Amino acid sequence: MIIKQKPKADLKMVVKGRSVSYNDKGKGKMPIIFLHGFPFDKSTWQPQMDALAVTHRVIAYDIRGFGKSEAGAEKPNIRLFADDLVQFMDAMEIQKAIVCGLSMGGYILLNAVFRYANRFEAIVLCDTQCITDSPEAKEKRKQTIKQIKGNGIKNFAQAFTKSVFCQETMDKNKELVENTHNIVLANSFDAITETLGALTRRKETCSTLGLIDVPVLILCGKEDIITVPAQSELLHRSIEQSKLHFIKKAGHLSNLEQPEEFNKHLLKFVSGISKK
Ligand code: MLT
Repeated sequence: MIIKQKPKADLKMVVKGRSVSYNDKGKGKMPIIFLHGFPFDKSTWQPQMDALAVTHRVIAYDIRGFGKSEAGAEKPNIRLFADDLVQFMDAMEIQKAIVCGLSMGGYILLNAVFRYANRFEAIVLCDTQCITDSPEAKEKRKQTIKQIKGNGIKNFAQAFTKSVFCQETMDKNKELVENTHNIVLANSFDAITETLGALTRRKETCSTLGLIDVPVLILCGKEDIITVPAQSELLHRSIEQSKLHFIKKAGHLSNLEQPEEFNKHLLKFVSGISKK
């Protein structure tokens, strides 16, 4: 008889007066921390948490306002989210970690690695970019906020979910599409609209890439239409010691669309780091 392991309950910790929900699995000297994209939650790292916990300590937390983490009183911005990461590490008594961020998680990581260089052993940038929003993208986000304020998050959740997957995933992995849609819908109106504002106000980080002094892995879905492959190529060209892999048959959520391929690259990279 196969006994299915029950997922461990979420853990909770108060960091600077704000409750943060997280998962912490496995054992290892160098923890790997996962930062999710917008507008998702820590559960979007489940396939990586499960696979890597066999050999490493893996941690994923809900970014403020998302999942089960409190939003706090401050107006959200990427720099604040980067400070949150380091404060979370302090509270967990983690001096250094390998940190892996997808999309908005990558924006946070690129902000943090520049300002807190000595807290990172290595970084993994997934389906992300260093540029800021173009005027057209800013206008689009403004319209999206307006539309959500007028009609609620239902239409937004449907359209956004469609945009994060490649056609093959949409056609063949309906369960993943539905689960992801539900994660978007479970987030609050405020978290979504205010974080859209934070995304559009974010500063570029391209000019700081040359200063990154740790091993970097870049992964990107070949069919990502949100943070397009050319942006990963730009990261790769600008970060001397980086490795780049494109994931076939994947859009923006490459870690969920092709978890085996994604995990293969991630595991190889982190195993190389932990041996050093
Ligand atoms: C994300 O997945 O975090 C977002 O799509 C990022 C963005 O919209 O810029």
